[in-house]
Amino acid sequence: MRSKQKLAIFASGTGSNYDAIHEAIQTGELEAELVLLVCDRPQALVIKKAADNGLPVFVFNPRDYSTKADFEAEIVKQLKKAAVEWIILAGYMRLIGTVLLECFEGRIINIHPSLLPAFPGLDAIGQAFDAGVKVSGVTIHYVDAGMDTGQIIAQQAVAIKPNMTRPALQSAIQLVEHELYPRTIQQLLTQGE
Ligand code: GAR
Repeated sequence: MRSKQKLAIFASGTGSNYDAIHEAIQTGELEAELVLLVCDRPQALVIKKAADNGLPVFVFNPRDYSTKADFEAEIVKQLKKAAVEWIILAGYMRLIGTVLLECFEGRIINIHPSLLPAFPGLDAIGQAFDAGVKVSGVTIHYVDAGMDTGQIIAQQAVAIKPNMTRPALQSAIQLVEHELYPRTIQQLLTQGE
């Protein structure tokens, strides 16, 4: 049997999806090895979570580099050192550039809190709420050079009930994310086995 595939998580914020993936690995629901957290916001909460779990963390400040290609080249160095095979974006609020895309073609996935192609970009939950749609949801997709445009892998709908508040919608969407992301990653890793 093949050894466990090595994942890096990229995150910029709270890290609830990081937690869900870490937990799924602990319980054996997701058979993979988490080897690195990459974070572009030195004050992000997710950094402490990863450090508490003993996961190596690469934190950088994009302002310390003159171009995206420069910081992505540094990220690639860290990913190669850790022998990373898959990049899992979990609330990484930055477009992936050509340096990373070329090195990890077809091996970068993202989670987005809407039913793409509806409501791409920032604050997808707020966009859906303000639009008054009755259904939104969660999408997991491959990453390409566009903004939330890559090939869709999995989607799950979330009903927006009458009188639902925006925070309630956010909780409902995150509940789905935390279950769908580990399950979809597991399916992806075992495809063709
Ligand atoms: C998640 O809801 C994720 O879908 C979203 O950021 C949140 C991160 O939460 N991602 C995007 O909007 C990407 N365009 P977390 O830090 O608690 O996992």
